[in-house]
Amino acid sequence: MKRATPITDPKHIVITGATSGLGRALAIGYARPGRMLSLAGRNTARLEEVAIACQSAGAEVHTVTLDVTDAAAMEAWLAQSDSARPIDILIANAGVGGAAALAPPTGEDGPQARNIFSVNTVGVINTVIPVTPRIVARGRGQIVIIGSIQDSLGVPQSPVYCASKAAVQIYGEGLRRLLAVQGVGVTVVRPGFIDTPMSQSLAMPRPFCWSPERAAEKVINEVRKGAAQITFPWPLRLFLGLQKFAPVWLTDFVIARSMRMGWAPPALPDPDEADQRRSR
Ligand SMILES: NC(=O)c1ccc[n+]([C@@H]2O[C@H](COP(=O)([O-])OP(=O)(O)OC[C@H]3O[C@@H](n4cnc5c(N)ncnc54)[C@H](OP(=O)(O)O)[C@@H]3O)[C@@H](O)[C@H]2O)c1
Repeated sequence: MKRATPITDPKHIVITGATSGLGRALAIGYARPGRMLSLAGRNTARLEEVAIACQSAGAEVHTVTLDVTDAAAMEAWLAQSDSARPIDILIANAGVGGAAALAPPTGEDGPQARNIFSVNTVGVINTVIPVTPRIVARGRGQIVIIGSIQDSLGVPQSPVYCASKAAVQIYGEGLRRLLAVQGVGVTVVRPGFIDTPMSQSLAMPRPFCWSPERAAEKVINEVRKGAAQITFPWPLRLFLGLQKFAPVWLTDFVIARSMRMGWAPPALPDPDEADQRRSR
């Protein structure tokens, strides 16, 4: 299969969710003289703080305060950004997760579930679709979708979050195969825990947690090589890879066991208590 030509020295990088965590670290990691950064988020003050950090590293920075669920605003902003300078790398990073995506014992309610899908899935589509025809016409560009390692395993803590990330993983995979022949690359990033406000909001252990800077460096280095998929950290990648071959009962057992050991958010009932309730 034909592979897209990697973008080794991007001149214009667009990042959504640049006000915090991974998006912020990516913006700072990409910042250097000769580069334009177009950064989006909802929090204007934090966006300004990131812009100043990137400018002090020599980058030309443009910021916009917007919500990725607003398709019309996204289309207008992305068209304007691409016309100002052709977008080389587009990073659909904005997302909701952590405590905001935890399922109560009865499962997520409608507003919570719709919000997770609106931001994590429709928000990615709102970011990618307006730019795709433009970079396909140029035959050059890299689309980067920030998913999650949780895309391959439905965990009881956050079924809708897992589904929203599974959707963008499959979307990115199909899009990569579609656009490769046109010279355009698509990368899906599948991180484990990153030490950001999102994961910090979880009152549970975060094994193999990476700093945002380490995660951003990994993403930047792999995107430069035109990677199709970036999954980290390797122990979780290995575990989830093996899990695919395990019988369902074994996966259920391991998840239930890890919950008993306290690897579960407080919103869920204690499994022992739940077992006792069922046997009454
Ligand atoms: N942290 C982890 O452990 C982890 C693990 C796997 C995957 N990820 C993924 O990595 C990405 C970045 O997350 P993070 O850890 O850096 O979280 P974070 O620190 O909470 O940052 C989330 C970013 O998304 C933006 N955002 C949220 N809702 C938005 C909306 N409706 N419109 C526009 N922007 C919005 C936020 O901007 P404002 O606050 O300004 O709105 C913020 O900049 C997400 O897609 C997340 O799912 C994170």
